Amino acid sequence: MCQSPTGSMQTRPSSTRSLLDIDDLSRDEIASVIRRSGEFRTKLPDRSLLAGVPVLNLFFEASTRTATSFTLAEQRVGADVISFAPGTSSLGKGETIADTAITLRAIGVRVIVVRHNESGFPRRLAESFDGHVVNAGDGTRAHPTQALLDLATLHAEFGRFEGLRVAIVGDILHSRVARSNIVGMKMLGIDVTLVGPPTLLPDDFAQDGVRIERDFDAVLPRVDAVMMLRVQRERIAASLLPALADYTIGYQLGTQRLRLLPKGAVILHPGPYNRGVELTDEALADPRSRYEAQVTNGVYIRMAALDLLVNGLAVGA
Ligand code: NCD
Repeated sequence: MCQSPTGSMQTRPSSTRSLLDIDDLSRDEIASVIRRSGEFRTKLPDRSLLAGVPVLNLFFEASTRTATSFTLAEQRVGADVISFAPGTSSLGKGETIADTAITLRAIGVRVIVVRHNESGFPRRLAESFDGHVVNAGDGTRAHPTQALLDLATLHAEFGRFEGLRVAIVGDILHSRVARSNIVGMKMLGIDVTLVGPPTLLPDDFAQDGVRIERDFDAVLPRVDAVMMLRVQRERIAASLLPALADYTIGYQLGTQRLRLLPKGAVILHPGPYNRGVELTDEALADPRSRYEAQVTNGVYIRMAALDLLVNGLAVGA
């Protein structure tokens, strides 16, 4: 703890605190980030929270919503935002991650937001970088800010976490979104059911507080939220990809299944969605769909997460 210049107590900010997965935050910090994101949504802070802090966006993998949302969040907290196409970086010329990290720090970068198709890349970067690393999605491993925005969307809807019943459906095996959500939801006492075919949801995903179900229809009437995932063709070995027709029969959210979903439940999807594969036009247009709310919440969540990492957490905040 330390006394801030304004006299309020703060947990001492560490110049190297990173967000590699959601459990780098405590339960209280998750709650605080979600609460602050709600405050930012009601009233934008002035652009002083990260005034003059150089933040680098390093997206080695395609991204629309996550990259845009991070950039806007960084601008709204006053950061000096640098984005560049890593395809043209010196990593491609054989420079090691450690040397790149040293170079970026010497330039003055204090926060790196990184997405990479290799699981563990952000951690390796964080080991050599004397600053904050924020994981914007690594391979199939983790996507902590997506989980935070999903949790914020659930909290806005239900006002609590404990005891909520959430089904995560589809290509769990290749989903970093599912992995981070499982970790976060377990921390917060949410009851998680994973639903999918054995090829995309192996039995070993079952753990304390996390059930596996193969029968989607049986799960639907008992949930508060259903999170539909994209079939990640780019990560799936051809032999594993079930015939699309079979997949939609078993796991697509469409007309019949929308009738099984309770009135007060919500439909989540991290995007990008494939219309007609994991869900239909009707599911996307359903009044229970919260896809747009999720995307909107992402900006405020990323503002709050950046503020927590760089400035620490005001006690009692
Ligand atoms: C996801 C991702 O990239 O992990 N999208 C996102 O960040 N909102 C999910 C996906 O690619 O299917």
